[in-house]
Amino acid sequence: MQLSAVILAAGLGTRMKSRLPKVLFEVAGEPLVSHVISTVRSLHVHPEKIILVVGHSRELVIETVKKSHPDTDALRFVVQAEQHGTGHALIQAREELSNQEGSTFVLCGDTPLLTPELLENLYKFHTVNGSDATVLTTRVREPRGYGRIVRTQDGRVKSIIEERDASDEVRKINEINTGVYLFSTKKLLAALDRLKPENDQHEYYLTDTIGILNSWGSKAMAYEEAEDHLMMGINNRFELSVAERYMRERINRRHMIAGVTIVDPATTYIESKVRISADVTIFPNTHLKGSTEIDEGSIIGPDSLVENSKIGKGCVVRQSTVEDSRLASNVKVGPYSHIRPGTFLDEGVHIGNYVEVKKSSIGANSKANHLTYIGDAEIGSSANVGAGTITCNYDGVNKNKTKIGDAVFIGSNTALVAPVEIGEGSLVAAGSVITKNVPPFSLAIERCEQVIKIDYMKKRKIEKNGSAKKNGR
Ligand code: UD1
Ligand code: CA
Repeated sequence: MQLSAVILAAGLGTRMKSRLPKVLFEVAGEPLVSHVISTVRSLHVHPEKIILVVGHSRELVIETVKKSHPDTDALRFVVQAEQHGTGHALIQAREELSNQEGSTFVLCGDTPLLTPELLENLYKFHTVNGSDATVLTTRVREPRGYGRIVRTQDGRVKSIIEERDASDEVRKINEINTGVYLFSTKKLLAALDRLKPENDQHEYYLTDTIGILNSWGSKAMAYEEAEDHLMMGINNRFELSVAERYMRERINRRHMIAGVTIVDPATTYIESKVRISADVTIFPNTHLKGSTEIDEGSIIGPDSLVENSKIGKGCVVRQSTVEDSRLASNVKVGPYSHIRPGTFLDEGVHIGNYVEVKKSSIGANSKANHLTYIGDAEIGSSANVGAGTITCNYDGVNKNKTKIGDAVFIGSNTALVAPVEIGEGSLVAAGSVITKNVPPFSLAIERCEQVIKIDYMKKRKIEKNGSAKKNGR
């Protein structure tokens, strides 16, 4: 059967107290509305069209959504320039829906915790019962603020009544409208034509379509779900944090079931698109963000942040930050190092304590173990970069490159003033300031020759004592 989905995302979300439209607030590194789109996209019954109703900050919403879902042509955007209610929002999608058969999901852009399973169950229920409109409902202890589900004697839905339009009797009902629906597309379109803004807010209520459908003898039903957090809509930043916690637990659980050891899930923050292979171990206070991928057997953390990076097999990243970089297999980083964007660390590279690497590639089995800055450098394999080495890559105007060949040994506390090349197999003596290229297999030493003054200290002592007497009190 043909399936469509409409996601309402035109509101500002006043209670977020922000310039940013509510649906762009993030949970697990993805905008709220992108979670809803992902859920709809992963349904077994593929929706042909996913129509997003946008209004507030619509350019930004459209741009962000396109960025997070670049690979679908199912997405359509319709504009609701002024927000006159949920029914009015759906009316804006009328044209997009007019050539659609089958069923249409209606969802809100602020419910990131919805799952494909839940929507599939709703779909099955709707189809098996031959329903024309099915409302996803739940029972809550405190129904205040929600639309109440008024059932008929035989259990169908008679109407949905908003809190402010409800009698005291109706307000006692604790079964609420979650704002998720599945409609027969044709019946929905017909009912939208009949909506009138006759209520306390003078808005077009989508919920009124249920009463309209009933008046035509159509079948409106409710699918009740007990896990009310799944349908949770985010209205303020406290609720955002609650959703974040649920999402974090869900993501962590998925990885643990798939064979990842997470030592302390409460302090492990993994964004939704991160991929982790089995037998990876993650220690506490670790953040894995963006498009990060971590291969088998690697150990990440404690206290590490890895963003948009690929970590190969058997790597160790401790107390360190890795951004937009790639680590081949068996690479060690940390503790306390910073791998900045554009870095490639080949197999077996060791980056030790307090080392910063930026936009550089380091060849297999090379080491920079202590207190070093490597920027805009190309380092061969099996090189050793001594403690305190600095690539002076910036002359105040340009960023310049440093090239270090295979098996080069850079002595401690060396400054390599770029652009400069150190040929293969060379040795740079500790403390040198290298400004000229070093040919292969050479020694480069740039420092004053050491001077020795025999017995200097003995003499100084005598002088000192003498002067002390002279000036003595
Ligand atoms: C709505 C339901 C209510 C339900 C509740 C669940 C109606 C009339 N009421 O109430 O029964 O219990 O959701 O959360 O539908 N939106 C637009 N354009 C508009 C108005 C809203 O796009 O003109 C979008 C909002 O951005 C939001 C969603 O629709 O994503 C819901 O709107 P909201 O104003 O929060 O509806 P409620 O009053 O909470
Ligand atoms: Ca709401």
